[in-house]
Amino acid sequence: MLDIQKIRADFPILTQKVNGKPLVYFDNGATNQKPQIVIEAIAKYYQEINANIHRGVHTLSQLATDAYEESRAKIQNHINAKFPHEVLFTSGTTHGINLVANGFASILKPNDEILVSALEHHSNIVPWQMLCEKTGAKLVVIPMNENGELIMTEYDKLLNNKTKIVTVNHISNALGTINPIKYMIDQAHEFGAAVLIDGAQATPHLKPDVQALNCDFYVFSGHKICGPTGTGILYGKEDWLNKLPPYQGGGEMIKEVSFEKTTYAALPHKFEAGTPNIEGGIVLGTAIDYLNEIGFDNIADYENELLAYGTEKLLAIEGLKIFGTSKAKTSVISFNIEGIHPYDIGTIVDKLGIAVRTGHHCAQPIMNFFNIPGTIRASFAFYNTKEEIDIFVEAVKKAKTMLS
Ligand code: ALA
Repeated sequence: MLDIQKIRADFPILTQKVNGKPLVYFDNGATNQKPQIVIEAIAKYYQEINANIHRGVHTLSQLATDAYEESRAKIQNHINAKFPHEVLFTSGTTHGINLVANGFASILKPNDEILVSALEHHSNIVPWQMLCEKTGAKLVVIPMNENGELIMTEYDKLLNNKTKIVTVNHISNALGTINPIKYMIDQAHEFGAAVLIDGAQATPHLKPDVQALNCDFYVFSGHKICGPTGTGILYGKEDWLNKLPPYQGGGEMIKEVSFEKTTYAALPHKFEAGTPNIEGGIVLGTAIDYLNEIGFDNIADYENELLAYGTEKLLAIEGLKIFGTSKAKTSVISFNIEGIHPYDIGTIVDKLGIAVRTGHHCAQPIMNFFNIPGTIRASFAFYNTKEEIDIFVEAVKKAKTMLS
């Protein structure tokens, strides 16, 4: 059992009033809030050890380098990667996907196929379309059903020897569907295809085990797991990372540079050109420690309770329809009310202190599938409460009355 009031006390922002009302923060899918320990770790880095890493012999530089590498090792342990050099720091999920897609430009040939799912965020569609333009490869879409689930019988039919990479999210940001990624990875490997998992929406709710999954790449963002913005992780299997060319050229990603020829540094530095977000990388480790202390099993159990409670309460509102009705779902409720634009509901509930995301959630193909302009998305975190859901439900009822 989690002591939610104790947990809430870790998050200073949650005591705020917004528009004169106590903040109800249900936009955790977009970014989640930061505990005091993370906020303090940011200040502590700048107060005590700020220096550039991997560059200086001086003491501060070594302290910062050690802290950065300790954080890498912590993240390696968290996701159960085999080696620390399989864990690359990025600026976020989008960066990680672009890095891999860019690398595949040297591998793909015309008419090779890239399988993306119908449930993807734009950041897991557009980089692959750009890659198709560059290489002549084809983008093939794994379809979904009315519950917002990928159709595995169709997936099986789409896989073939031309499939070079399958790229799919672990959990849909717009609907909350948990995809059967283990099955998808195993099937793709039968055809020799690599698999990238976008874990941006999964890592706030669960602890991925990349070796058990046997995925080739797993990407996620720091800011969705209580860490700073501008941080993220790309896990890649050693063989794949050795095979892919560097994404960006610059300092510290090289072994030797001359005007005639440059050779590249070993992993992970080959992919980490330029001064990184040092404080962010270090503090991401603090955030992961914080979440592990609470425990991901506890987080998942509690969030499932919130999901069940919120679903029942919202469905009692006449004319309300939830999009994303899979049984395998995380704590996201995406919905509309008949005849009312989602944006209008979002604006009214904001006036009542409630933060939700409205619109297409950077997943326009999903909205096109349902033939809707967008949804209202309430995404719950482990610090939210049933009382907050009650406040939200009353606010939605009020908005409905005002807008009908
Ligand atoms: N991808 C984030 C979301 O779903 C920003 O809101």
